[in-house]
Amino acid sequence: MDVVDAIRKRRAVRNYTDRPIPQETLDRMLRLALSAPTGSGAQAWSLLVVQDADRRARVADLVIAGGGRYFAEMRPWKDDVSDDEKQAWGRESAEKVLASYRQVPAWVFGLVVPRDNYPASMREGGHIDDVISVGFAMENLFLVARSEGIGSVPTTAFQRFEKDRLREILGLPPEVDPVILTPLGYPQEFPEGRPVAMKKTFRSWKSLVHDETWGNTRE
Ligand SMILES: Cc1cc2nc3c(=O)[nH]c(=O)nc-3n(C[C@H](O)[C@H](O)[C@H](O)COP(=O)(O)O)c2cc1C
Repeated sequence: MDVVDAIRKRRAVRNYTDRPIPQETLDRMLRLALSAPTGSGAQAWSLLVVQDADRRARVADLVIAGGGRYFAEMRPWKDDVSDDEKQAWGRESAEKVLASYRQVPAWVFGLVVPRDNYPASMREGGHIDDVISVGFAMENLFLVARSEGIGSVPTTAFQRFEKDRLREILGLPPEVDPVILTPLGYPQEFPEGRPVAMKKTFRSWKSLVHDETWGNTRE
C-alpha cells in the first residue's frame, strides 16, 4: 500500500482480533516511527512497547475503565442523573466499544523524555516541540501499521484518569511523560469512513484552508 492509500484508509480502530503481529513487522513499524522529524534533532522521545500478557491485560483494563469515565464525562446529562448512574452508563458503553482491547497483541506508548543529549542551557523550552515530535512518530507508526493491515487509535484521553497507575505498570520515572498510546492489532475490519455522528460535524478540508490571509477559505 502506498503512502497516500495508507493516509486515506487509516482510521481509528476499536475492534481488534487476537492475531499476533510478527516481531519483525512490529520492529519495522517502530523503526519507521522513529524516523519522523524531531525538533532540534533532540530525539526527546521513546516508544514503550507492551507485549507481555499480564501487562497487556493491566493496560487494557486501565484504558477501558478510563474510556468509561471519559464517555460519562462527555455525554450531556439531565440534572437528575446521579454520578453513579453516569459512571455505570460509561462503564457499559466502554465495554461495548472497547472490550476487544483486551486481546490486542501489543500496545505502544509515545513518551516525551528529558533532553539529556543537550547542554543544560538548551534543555528548557522544548516541551511543545517534543510533544509534536512524538505525535509525528506516532502518525508514522499509524500509517505503516495501516499499510501492514494493522489497526491503531491515537489515545490521549482515556488514560488521563489514572496516570500514576499507568506509570507504575510501565515502570516510568516521573520525568518521562506518557503523552499518547495506541493498541496495535489486526482489526476485525477497518472502519469505512467516519461514524455517522461525526460526519455531521466534520468540516471539509476546503473550509479549513485559508489562502494568504485568515478568513479567506476555499469554501
Ligand atoms: C490527539 C488525539 C487524541 C485522541 N484521543 C483518543 C482517545 O483518548 N480515545 C479514543 O478512542 N480516540 C482518541 N482519538 C481518536 C479520534 O477520536 C479519531 O482520530 C477521530 O475521531 C477521527 O477519526 P479517524 O482517526 O478514524 O479519522 C484521538 C485522536 C487524536 C488526534
